[in-house]
Order: sequence, then C-alpha cells, then structure tokens
Amino acid sequence: MTNPEYILGSDEAEIDRLQTQAAILAEPTALLFQRGGIRPGMRVLDLGSGPGDVAFQVADIVGPDGFVVGVERDPAQIAAATARRDRLGLGNVEFRRGDARTFVDDEPFDAGVCRLLLMHLPDAADVLAHQMRNLRPGGVFVAVDYDMGGARALPEVELYSRVRDWLWAGFEYAHVDPFVGMRLPVLFGQAGYDDVGALGLQAYWPPENRQAAGYVVGVVRAMKDAIVASGAATEDEIDLDTLELRLGDALGAAGAVYTAPTVVGGWGRRPSRT
Ligand SMILES: C[S@@+](CC[C@H](N)C(=O)[O-])C[C@H]1O[C@@H](n2cnc3c(N)ncnc32)[C@H](O)[C@@H]1O
Repeated sequence: MTNPEYILGSDEAEIDRLQTQAAILAEPTALLFQRGGIRPGMRVLDLGSGPGDVAFQVADIVGPDGFVVGVERDPAQIAAATARRDRLGLGNVEFRRGDARTFVDDEPFDAGVCRLLLMHLPDAADVLAHQMRNLRPGGVFVAVDYDMGGARALPEVELYSRVRDWLWAGFEYAHVDPFVGMRLPVLFGQAGYDDVGALGLQAYWPPENRQAAGYVVGVVRAMKDAIVASGAATEDEIDLDTLELRLGDALGAAGAVYTAPTVVGGWGRRPSRT
C-alpha cells in the first residue's frame, strides 16, 4: 500500500476489484453525471481516478471536443489507468499524480467529478471547497459515492447481516464513512456551492444472481485486515475462501432480493460571482 491514509491499497487484486465494481456502477454513474450537468465539449477534472473507469466514462460523455484530467495520489493506480487509456486509444484523457486536497491546475475546468473518494476523506467538505478554485465561475462539481445504509437482503439472511456488520465495523476502524452519500447535500452546502442537489440510485438483484455475493465478498476481501483489527471477526470466522459460495447459497436458499448500496450523486455549481 503506497498511500498510508487510504485503507484499500492498490495491489493487483484491488485494481481488478475496482474495475469489476466500476462495471456495476457504470449505469448509475452515467445517469448521475448527466443529471449533475456533465455535457459534451467540457474539460473535466476527475479526482481519485484510480484505474481510470470514471475518466473513461466521462470521456465518452464529453466526446472528442472535451478533455478529462484524472488526478490520483497512487502511482500504481496511475500506471494501470494510463496503460488502459493507451489500450483504448483515448486521446482526450490524461492522468496526473496529485492530491485532491491540494491539486490546482493552471487552467480552469468546466466541471469536476469524483467517485468513491469522499468516503475516504474525513475532511470532504474542505476538499470540495478547495476544488471550487479549479472550476470556472458557474462550473459544476458532481460527486458520486455510496450510502451503504441502503444495502439489505429481503427476507433477512443471517449470514448477510453478519457480513454487513463486519464491514461496518471495518469501515469505522479505518475511518471510512460508508454512509457519506447521505451527507452529500450537506457537504456541498458547507463547501459554498450553489444549486445543490442529490439523487440516489440502487440495483435490485434477484436471489439467483451470484453477482451479489461476489460484490459483497469483494469488499470484505479488500477490508479484511481492518475487519479483523476492529475485533468484529477473526480470519477463521470470515473464512474468505468459502465466503462467496456460502453467501450466494444463503441468499439463493432464502429467495432473498439483495439491494446493492445506494449510489448517490451530489452536485453543486461554483457561484458565478466568485
Ligand atoms: C475506491 S477508489 C475509486 C477509484 C475510482 N474513482 C472509481 O470509482 O473506480 C479511490 C481512489 O482514490 C485515491 N485517493 C485516495 N485519497 C486521495 C487523495 N487525497 N487524492 C487523490 N486520490 C486519492 C485512491 O488511491 C484510489 O485510487
């Protein structure tokens, strides 16, 4: 892990997990970016760009007349994103090393975005306020993040409830806010944005859809050390090698629909007078 304040790290498994998760999040992300005001031709900043999926989606929206600059603190993520960009042959995307707390570009952006970044930043309102200086007056910022309070299985599945409690304990231990989506309208207001709005979208997966167990256990795998350190479960109790199979079987046997964490988009506009 090259970024000591960031719990999820950037080994190969984590970079792969982010890309699997990105495929699941692609549809709500595109809808929320459109709703928040990302448009063709814009020059857009993507903060915490990770392996690049958000920047690639934004490049698709802004088209050949637009441009995307991804800013990321972790060199391993930048290397993965740049290699993927080259394979995709995208000429309107660039990745740079930088910290969302301090990054300032020479040229203003029409818009800024970030996804699954604010949950890791205890000073999220300050970061949003800082980023206003990268926007032209009237420019928009759209943040997409989780409200994990929306994730549930119905009917209730005991193993799922246990795994959810492990995750929440792990997040708390690691100072990650899994409910930051709930706070987006407040954070944008505190940061001084105008025209603040927020909207949440959620996937509903049927009992036989094994994607639910794969998705949940992917997060457990990424958070395992924090879960164990929090005291919520031991490695033996987690039994990572069999957990996905056990959870998928349990959801299927109960006939439970699983709702994935709510994907919340929050947005605001830099006041024209500043
Ligand atoms: C959960 S990943 C999300 C990646 C990508 N935005 C996505 O949705 O697929 C969070 C990313 O933010 C990066 N990150 C964390 N803190 C950061 C900071 N202060 N400045 C820039 N990047 C940061 C991490 O290195 C990681 O690549």
